[in-house]
Order: sequence, then structure tokens, then C-alpha cells
Amino acid sequence: MNSVTFADQLVLPCGARLPNRIAKSAMTEGLADPNDHATGLHRQLYKTWSQGGAGLHISGNIMVDRRYLERAGNIVLEDDSGLSTLKEMTASGKVGGNEFWAQISHPGRQCPRLVNSEPLAPSAVQLKMMGNFSRPRAITDAEIEDVIQRFAKTALLCKQAGFTGVQVHCAHGYLISQFLNPLINQREDQWGGSLENRARLARRVVRAVRDAVGPDFPVAAKLNSADFQKGGFSLDECVQVAQWLAEDSLDLLEISGGNYEQLSLMGVEPTEVRDSTRKREAYFLEYAEAIRTAANIPLMVTGGFRSRTVMEQALATKEADVIGLARPFCTQANLPKLLIEKQIENVDCYENSLVLGKGFWGNNSPMSLIRAINNVGAVGFYYWQIIQLAQAKGIDPALKVFRSFLGHTVRDFKSNMARKKAG
Ligand SMILES: Cc1cc2nc3c(=O)[nH]c(=O)nc-3n(C[C@H](O)[C@H](O)[C@H](O)COP(=O)(O)O)c2cc1C
Repeated sequence: MNSVTFADQLVLPCGARLPNRIAKSAMTEGLADPNDHATGLHRQLYKTWSQGGAGLHISGNIMVDRRYLERAGNIVLEDDSGLSTLKEMTASGKVGGNEFWAQISHPGRQCPRLVNSEPLAPSAVQLKMMGNFSRPRAITDAEIEDVIQRFAKTALLCKQAGFTGVQVHCAHGYLISQFLNPLINQREDQWGGSLENRARLARRVVRAVRDAVGPDFPVAAKLNSADFQKGGFSLDECVQVAQWLAEDSLDLLEISGGNYEQLSLMGVEPTEVRDSTRKREAYFLEYAEAIRTAANIPLMVTGGFRSRTVMEQALATKEADVIGLARPFCTQANLPKLLIEKQIENVDCYENSLVLGKGFWGNNSPMSLIRAINNVGAVGFYYWQIIQLAQAKGIDPALKVFRSFLGHTVRDFKSNMARKKAG
């Protein structure tokens, strides 16, 4: 049998087809208007990306509850207000003949103080990051049921808005991932303790979403292979949860890792990691192998893919069914075409230069302020390129980390104020 290549289709369990094996993973756009609705900027951004040739595009976080955002500028879809501009966005995001899925999400305690100073979490365990996040309140049983219904409703609205699938965000320390993580979930009821209990929310949400959208519509999830924190969600637990989610009729599982405290999702070296993983370009591939053996479900692996050979090998050896990329899409919107046509050996990679004080401390400054500037500045660099693409302008690869930190901080503050003014 021939081995899988980029250009091969993938038929999902629900019957839908991805036209090829390259996917743009979710990236929060921050482009919604003060009423949390999609805008012309989304339309332009997703048109540009769709024309780039990926088989699958996944939107940035679309929030299920406007009281709790991941950041101001998120799209919120909790009723049919804003559906008309969202329909325009999904239409332009499919011009290339790709699948276009919505990532649906609840931030839990990772909701910035400027958005809400009383966030929710499984237990009252605060995320301590430069005072950006307030101490959360433990979510009640009734609120958990409300969250489940909200995910289902948002998924159905996404289908009505023209998305061709949905992805439930169960990774990166957002609410569902907080439930999975014993360091944050200290509950002693049916939602905490054993893995079965900690995974209850993920499973209930996925099943409710499936019931809402029907059997033929792709339902995916993004899951951490591990949190990479001592005592956090582990690989063994991930393997079991992947098995359960496969039973719950999931179509595609995207493997990532880490959270705001442990930025392994961005390749910041995990402290709790196997030695061999450090040497790999795509740091979650080895974890995907363990998941693949246990769970019969198509796998998308995201995080660190930069060279064509490594991506091609991952497909050929079936370590991954779909190659997920995020940051390179910000500076190279047509990278899928370039890869499929073998016009490039490597995709863009700016992350190594986005470090303040690199010459002194490498990537890991002993000063938390410098680390925060580096983390926010590095992600701010990509936020800025997204804005440039959304305005149909050229990208700005010369942007330095401190300027992108400042620029993002000011823009974020202004978006929060505009949102508060709009009520
Ligand atoms: C600007 C930016 C925004 C992101 N937003 C999201 C998001 O909304 N949801 C999500 O699951 N991951 C998000 N991520 C993480 C990416 O989807 C991806 O997991 C990570 O960047 C690793 O892939 P890469 O090495 O190809 O960039 C974001 C990453 C970046 C750089």
C-alpha cells in the first residue's frame, strides 16, 4: 500500500472528507467588534487563509458565554445575534474548497481580570500571572450543566452559520482542561477525584455537541497529551480520555499540550518531559504514538512542525493523520500549497528570534517580568501579523519582541474598554 502524503484526502468517521492532510490549527484572532461579533477583518483573514490550500481551517476560540472570554476581541456565539456577519466569514473561509471548523471554548479561570474579575473554575485555584487573572470561584453543579448546554447550543449555531464542523477546546488549561487537571480540579463530587469524574465534563460536552449537530457533522476535540506539570494531567490519563472520546463518536482528535503556566504548546521546554522529546521538532508526535495505539480515532498533531521532511515522515509512518500548524500561517498564508508542491523545505520560523535578552539568559530569563514580556511579546508578534493579513497588508517580520509586547498590551486594553462601553 502507498504511504500517505500531504495531498491525500481523509475520510472522517462521520463521512465528511478533508481534501488534504494539512490543517491550520486554531488561533484566536482578537478581531471581533465590541459586541463580540465577526467583522470584515475576519472575512478578509479567512479568505486569505482559505486560498492558501489547507484541507482544514479551524477558527480561533469562539466563546460559549459572553461573560467569560479568553480575551476581548473573541467572537461569542450564544444566540443568533451576529449570525449574519459570521455567515460572511464562513463563506469566505471556504473559498478554497477546504473544511472550515469552529473551535468552541470556555476559558474557566483563564479569563483575564479586565474581562471578568470573578471567573469560574473547577475549584478556587488561582492562575498567578502578573495579576492578570482573578481568583476564580468554584463552579456549581447547575453552572456546569449550563456550560454543557451552552457548548451544544453554540455548536448548533456554528452549523447554522456555515461552519462545516466544530472542535471542542479541551486543551491548554481552558475550562474542560482545568477539570482534567488534578492540580486545579480539587472537587470531591462527581466532577472531581478519579479520572472518570474529571473527564465527565469533556465527555458530556462532546456527547451534547454530537446530539446537537447530528451524526454527519464533524465533531473534533483538542486535547493535551499532558499538562507537563508535576501532578497535572498525564499522558496515561490522556490515552484513556482519548479512548473514551473515540467511543463518544469523535471524528478527529488534535493533540497538543501545556497551559498558560507551562507553555509547552508553544515549544517552551517542558520541565516534565522525556529526554527524547526535546530532540524532536514536533514535540507531541511521540505522545501521539501512545494515543494512536490505544484509541481508534484520526489524529491531528500540532506543535513545532517546521520542516517538510518531518511532516511527510509523520504522515508516512501514520504517527499523524493530519499535520497541524499555527504560527507559520501568520507569516506564510499559502504554506500548504508550497508544501504540497514541494516548493519549500521549511516553513517560516520566527520564534527563536522573539526573545528579549536571549544573549544573556537564552530562552529562560530568571526574571519573571522578562519572561512575561517574552511570552506576551512572542504571541503579540503573531497577533500583529494576523491583523496585517486581516487588513490585506504585507506582514511585518521585522517586528521586535518588546514592541510587539507593548503594541499588544495597548490594543488589548483598548479592546477591553470598547467592550465595556458597548455594555
Ligand atoms: C497567535 C496564537 C493564537 C492561538 N490561539 C489559539 C486558540 O484560539 N485555540 C487553540 O487551541 N490554540 C491556540 N493557539 C495554539 C496553536 O493552535 C498551536 O497549538 C500552537 O501554536 C503550536 O503550533 P505551532 O508550533 O505550529 O505554532 C494559538 C497560538 C498562537 C501563536
